[in-house]
Amino acid sequence: MRYSYFLKETTYLPRAKISALGCYTPPRILTNQDLEKLVETNDRWIVERTGIRERHIAGPDVATSDMAIAAARCALALRGADPSEVNAIIVCTVTPDMMFPSTACLVQNALGARNAWGFDLVAACSGFVYGLATAAHLVSAGTHRKVLVIGSDTMSRIIDYTDRATCILFGDAAGAMLVEAVGEDEDGAGFIDFLGEIDGSGGDFLKMPAGGSRMPASHDTIDQRLHFVHQEGAQVFKYAVRKTYEACSELLARNGFSACDVAMLIPHQANGRIITASAERLGIPPERVLLNIDRYGNTVAATIPLATRDALQQGRLRKGDLVLFAAVGAGYTVGASLWRWAY
Ligand code: UT7
Repeated sequence: MRYSYFLKETTYLPRAKISALGCYTPPRILTNQDLEKLVETNDRWIVERTGIRERHIAGPDVATSDMAIAAARCALALRGADPSEVNAIIVCTVTPDMMFPSTACLVQNALGARNAWGFDLVAACSGFVYGLATAAHLVSAGTHRKVLVIGSDTMSRIIDYTDRATCILFGDAAGAMLVEAVGEDEDGAGFIDFLGEIDGSGGDFLKMPAGGSRMPASHDTIDQRLHFVHQEGAQVFKYAVRKTYEACSELLARNGFSACDVAMLIPHQANGRIITASAERLGIPPERVLLNIDRYGNTVAATIPLATRDALQQGRLRKGDLVLFAAVGAGYTVGASLWRWAY
């Protein structure tokens, strides 16, 4: 579908804001006690090493697009927006329904978003932060009125439930944010800045080796369990703590802010200890850091919208607050962005 160049004729370039948020978590819950029956692990180890107590798991008939559609519908309904008002759909995921067509196409069709174009964005755990920045730039360019950013991952489909080092970490969920131009009376609200970085030298530490053009599916790849997530956890852990700190501090400094200006740090939820260590180094106290990994685990591209929803519901994120989103993930990918919350 085509999108309209609605502001091409003017010189006014709008600032982008997040105007609505919707989330979806599948009803089935997999607890640490459930995992104790599958692998050699225990609730105490999982809680101490990760902070996770339970995660949501999609039913067999639910795929990434289904969760994405549910989250998107929720965001649009909360904004009172019709799907036809959406100009672009960005689905951030590493677990698309299939290699192609993109999950964005499936979501566009199901929503009836007849004026939207869109694409899938593959940046693993940094996906949502990258998607938000892309949407902000599309809106700020004056070419898009409303952009839907969706993070949706069905990690349970690519997790090896015989590998205790990874199966305890991940859950399934989706979250969507609507990004649009600020109104005339909203001076100072919305997107401030984004910092992104990739470092492909870390690619081997967290990956799904087979299923792409390098190693297409074969009996052999299945026998070797290469269609599952493989991770060297300790390597990723150290990189995540360092880069979360570095990205956030550089972003704050170059915009003239310090840690005490941040009302809410909303980090990717991969491990409670990564979040605590990064926040401590940044000098942001726990009451201004959103941590909800205990209930969802690592839902990859969905963690940031789920955490933002919780911050709003708990009254910890309010209109006018400075919010800092940050994520580090497979790739490696690193992203942080600063927003003045708009509603
Ligand atoms: O979001 C994308 C990015 N991903 C991440 O950020 C994940 C980063 N990494 C991590 O969160 C952590 O490295 C893990 C939670 C994955 C692992 O924690 P760790 O403290 O780094 O543990 P480890 O891998 O160094 O393993 C320590 C011990 C090992 O036993 P030995 O060799 O010391 O006897 C493991 O075999 O813990 C053992 N272990 C477990 N024990 C009980 C590993 N997994 C488990 C388990 N239950 N589930």
